[in-house]
Amino acid sequence: MRTIHLAGWPHSVSALGFGCASLGSRISRKAGTAAIERALAAGINWFDVAPSYGDGEAEAILGDALAGVSVAIVTKVGLRAAPAKRIARVARSLARPIVSAFPTLRALTKSMRAQAIERLPLDPESIRTSIGRSLERLKVDRVAVLALHEPAFEDLRRDDVLRALEDLKRQGLVARIGIAGSFDDFCAANDARPFIDVAQFAISASGRCGAQIGSIATRKAFAVLHGVFGVKSPNDLDRSLRYAFGANPSGVVLTSSFTPDHLAMNVAAANETPDEALAAKIESRSRSESARG
Ligand SMILES: NC(=O)c1ccc[n+]([C@@H]2O[C@H](COP(=O)([O-])OP(=O)(O)OC[C@H]3O[C@@H](n4cnc5c(N)ncnc54)[C@H](OP(=O)(O)O)[C@@H]3O)[C@@H](O)[C@H]2O)c1
Repeated sequence: MRTIHLAGWPHSVSALGFGCASLGSRISRKAGTAAIERALAAGINWFDVAPSYGDGEAEAILGDALAGVSVAIVTKVGLRAAPAKRIARVARSLARPIVSAFPTLRALTKSMRAQAIERLPLDPESIRTSIGRSLERLKVDRVAVLALHEPAFEDLRRDDVLRALEDLKRQGLVARIGIAGSFDDFCAANDARPFIDVAQFAISASGRCGAQIGSIATRKAFAVLHGVFGVKSPNDLDRSLRYAFGANPSGVVLTSSFTPDHLAMNVAAANETPDEALAAKIESRSRSESARG
């Protein structure tokens, strides 16, 4: 696996990250555990999770599946899964095989899950409680990155929130602080507090990604891209992956890789030398297309 360096973290990290948003919801504990084992065997040591993922189950499943293996974990604070009634959990696990047999049902369950996620009111206490529970579920003493999860713009300006995050870093519970939301939110936060220096956001189809990654590098920050397969142009999946790695050659590209074939394809793309020229060409074409309307 091609690796890169994350300042403040003692080990090199894999250029491909494993996204756990579906772990415990679309993907059962058993299938998820097997997928995590495959990812570890392929050399992936960057795992992206959040308290809200997998209907609130993802962190605990990931913690159990890692079984003490030391990896870089990104977790988040700011969104949480609404408490599900036991009967709803049972109904969901019974429905899983039906949903996977009828892919059109997946969009419906996805939108139902989005409604079951609520915003955690942020203050120093709620932030400390949230990371404390995350560390417990993940069975680790610290994580590589704690990111504000889709923060409200006003939270990026709150002194008490920002100070609480800095304290966690000072205490050694988290190595780096980030924003998992939009590029603009990251810039606003990094302008106010340079210690917020990890930017996680969706790759954009607008042809601006290269410029965004350039700005992150100028700020000496670290970039994580997701949404690789959501980009309409280019629509060829292999090319989408090569575009993402070419656009973010010194950072992490995150994908959901629960299916063995997907994992193999994503690992193969991560192992190629990032093609920055290809990414620049795709972006330039995409900009000219949007200029033409
Ligand atoms: N605000 C945030 O912080 C934020 C927002 C969105 C996402 N994320 C993170 O990013 C991760 C990835 O999310 P995403 O939205 O970018 O999803 P994605 O990686 O684009 O995955 C979407 C779908 O594409 C499939 N897939 C993966 N590799 C493929 C391949 N090579 N060919 C064809 N299909 C493939 C996946 O299937 P399988 O999983 O079955 O393999 C999944 O069903 C999430 O799990 C989460 O950790 C973070």
